Amino acid sequence: MSTHRIYNFNPGPAALPLEVLERVQDEFLNYKGTGMSITEISHRSKEFDEIINDAVLRIKRLLSLGDDFDVLFIQGGASLQFCMVPMNLSIEGRPVDYINTGTWSTKAIKEAKIQGRDVRIIASSEDKNFSYIPKTFTVDPDAAYLHFTSNNTIKGTQWHHFPDAGNVPLVCDMSSDIMSRPFDARPFGLIYAGAQKNLGPAGVAVVIIRRDMLERVPEELPTMLKYTTFSEKNSLFNTPPCFAIYVIDLVLQWLEEKIGGLKRMEEINAQKSKIIYDMIDGSGFYRGTAEPDSRSIMNITFRLQSEELEQKFVSEALKEGLGGLKGHRSVGGCRASLYNAVSIEAVEALCQFMKEFERRYG
Ligand SMILES: Cc1ncc(COP(=O)(O)O)c(C=O)c1O
Repeated sequence: MSTHRIYNFNPGPAALPLEVLERVQDEFLNYKGTGMSITEISHRSKEFDEIINDAVLRIKRLLSLGDDFDVLFIQGGASLQFCMVPMNLSIEGRPVDYINTGTWSTKAIKEAKIQGRDVRIIASSEDKNFSYIPKTFTVDPDAAYLHFTSNNTIKGTQWHHFPDAGNVPLVCDMSSDIMSRPFDARPFGLIYAGAQKNLGPAGVAVVIIRRDMLERVPEELPTMLKYTTFSEKNSLFNTPPCFAIYVIDLVLQWLEEKIGGLKRMEEINAQKSKIIYDMIDGSGFYRGTAEPDSRSIMNITFRLQSEELEQKFVSEALKEGLGGLKGHRSVGGCRASLYNAVSIEAVEALCQFMKEFERRYG
């Protein structure tokens, strides 16, 4: 079997640290002397208990979360959170505020409307094809929460300073930049993230909820759609996605022990994205699609002169061992996702390829 691996710029599921994959491989048939694979062990076992508790502890430590926050693992991806958030956290007679910065925010808004909530879109960047992060907006002080998407995976934009909503709790979809940088979690009532970008394999969303928000959860909701069910049972009300949680724990270990935490991760991520943005800005051949002050350090979106050239770019890159550079099907163009596990070496290889491609076709 070939162990040749490519440089992976996929948007999600995405690159995982090689050390983590090797560790999974090493202990896959016999987890810690149990004689069983982690995929064969009870979720009620001592071994799995250690894994889930360790993952929660590491998330809390990495994000400097106080005891007023719970960390939950919920299936259904980030998309289920689009509806669980308004179901659980809205308050009768009060609006819910949303900022629309792209495809995923739009989907979150749609789900809140399906729930019949009084949804106010207080800002949107739709006027310029979501190429920027809105700077002016007014949050209704009576709003039950303000929802925003910290990083717009498809449009390549990112909030560099989170919105100030006063006493209104922030609710954030951090699917594509969680654990990429440190931030102050105190203004947040809830943070959610599909795991399959910076955290681990697909199959689970990490939900970080401030405990006072649990008081809002309506009693009459179906059991599996209530945050309280997950909080009361340490995410073990039913069988959780054990394998995904196990890999998340290993990724968190890598982040803490190999990288050295989020401050260092942020520096590395800044260095990586600068390599590509500097190259794009200096080229005249590639055109970044996000406004410079709103650019994402995770997903770099760019266009070439024609769709034909873009296709050639993606396919020639793959031949050179650089995968996943096609833009999202809804927007076209090219996209390089530089999540935590994408190494500087991979980014330098991409930069070299882009220069060479420009030399040949520019
Ligand atoms: C910002 C953001 N939110 C939500 C989603 C949807 O996540 P899931 O597939 O886990 O439902 C994605 C997926 O790419 C995303 O990038």
